[in-house]
Amino acid sequence: MTALLQVRELKTIFSADGGDVSVVNGISFDVQAGRTLAIVGESGCGKSVTSLSIMGLLPRPHGRIAGGSIKFEGRELVGSSEQTLQDLRGNGMAMIFQEPMTSLNPSFTVGEQIMEGLLRHKKINRIRAREIAIEMLRKVRIPSPEQRMDEYPHKLSGGMRQRVMIAMGMACEPKLLIADEPTTALDATIQAQILELMRTLQQETGTAIVLITHDLGVVAEVADDVVVMYAGRIVEQGPVKEIFSTPQHPYTVGLLGAIPRMDIEKQRLISIEGQVPNPARPLPGCSFAQRCPFADQQCLELMPALVEVGLSHRSACFKAPLDPDLLPVCSGLEVVA
Ligand SMILES: Nc1ncnc2c1ncn2[C@@H]1O[C@H](COP(=O)(O)OP(=O)(O)O)[C@@H](O)[C@H]1O
Ligand SMILES: [Mg+2]
Repeated sequence: MTALLQVRELKTIFSADGGDVSVVNGISFDVQAGRTLAIVGESGCGKSVTSLSIMGLLPRPHGRIAGGSIKFEGRELVGSSEQTLQDLRGNGMAMIFQEPMTSLNPSFTVGEQIMEGLLRHKKINRIRAREIAIEMLRKVRIPSPEQRMDEYPHKLSGGMRQRVMIAMGMACEPKLLIADEPTTALDATIQAQILELMRTLQQETGTAIVLITHDLGVVAEVADDVVVMYAGRIVEQGPVKEIFSTPQHPYTVGLLGAIPRMDIEKQRLISIEGQVPNPARPLPGCSFAQRCPFADQQCLELMPALVEVGLSHRSACFKAPLDPDLLPVCSGLEVVA
């Protein structure tokens, strides 16, 4: 089966005064129709730049795709016209951003903003667009949707604005929804409600979701497949159950170790020391080597390739397969997917 989205060897760079900086360094992954792929990694790893690259929304002129391919329904997006990308956005694929106030226009009502996409992409009149917009607000469980339609975004709470963003994103029933940290700014209860909502809408419409998050608890709950990014590269990828039960990259082990668990009284949290390297000053070797407790000379000198370590499971680590004794903290984590 051909994947809905195929990303191959994607390279994205930003030009700065000092020259070009590679922030996404040749990543490849597939998103199957109707499935959920989670992209995880610490801040600065290139998750948002990856999604902006797919959507054709890199900040111009300094951000650009320098290589690779992005195919949506078999159609190449890299190098395609702005018109083609505009037609696809909202209709074929939509994106929900972390901070809704940056993408909701403060000078238009909630209703006008949801209707705008519908009127642009569907052959319907304003009356029908309004009906659909109200229906979407109802679906995302906004109380009194008829009244809310005519309110401005600043009147809504953070949770309500995020729901409006989801309603906007899903109104045209896109085949792919990219949600970039959609719940990070919200408290845990609202977060759970929003994720549940996305899941329900996915079941109704068959939308594929790319969920970007640094919250592995969320990943365990909703993802089918996982991509772990570090310093602009994929260091591990595979089905969610494999990633949680037998992670094969020390960075993933570190991320999993950082999830608090309820079932262990005195938990031993592994925290990852140090910081994500600066993409403007790339070092030779594995980009995680400086922080990795298992790194040796080879890791500091050579870049490990992403290789098969299990069924559809890849890791970019010379030490894979990892010693199972390394994995005490994450081995019991429950995967609901
Ligand atoms: N508009 C921009 N101009 C220059 N560099 C950027 C820009 N946006 C992101 N970057 C750089 O790209 C890298 C990846 O950023 P980003 O994709 O936002 O990380 P993440 O979403 O994983 O936290 C970072 O080093 C960041 O500083
Ligand atoms: Mg980001």
